[in-house]
Amino acid sequence: MRALTFISLLCFIAAVSCQSHDLVIGKPGFGDVIIYRINEYKYGFPFIVRSSTIEYPEPGHYNLAYISSIYVKDNEYDGSGGYPTISAGGVGQRFAKIKLKSQRGNGFNFTITIYGRY
Ligand SMILES: *[C@@H]1O[C@H](CO)[C@@H](O)[C@H](O)[C@H]1NC(C)=O
Repeated sequence: MRALTFISLLCFIAAVSCQSHDLVIGKPGFGDVIIYRINEYKYGFPFIVRSSTIEYPEPGHYNLAYISSIYVKDNEYDGSGGYPTISAGGVGQRFAKIKLKSQRGNGFNFTITIYGRY
């Protein structure tokens, strides 16, 4: 009985930690198009937290489309990847700032797709 509880606890931890950390906001609807797509990769260094900020539109560029959905896909399927957050803008707006942060000692590999509507 004890062992069974322990094993299910282990399974639970494994299921939670060994997953990619995708961030999906909104849902692309009919007529929405991909307005931005980028792959962001950073190597891991021991004891270091790596981070990146992705800005859409890129500095110096204009964007006329309203963002309908943001999909940040974590390409590290074993749970070692980083964590994405939206730090400004987002769905319903014409700009977005996405922060990517690795776990200490690890890198990350994200594919960011932004859908929008003109
Ligand atoms: C990041 O992930 C993508 C999708 O799986 C892969 O094609 C690409 O090679 C990866 N980049 C690096 C530098 O590992």
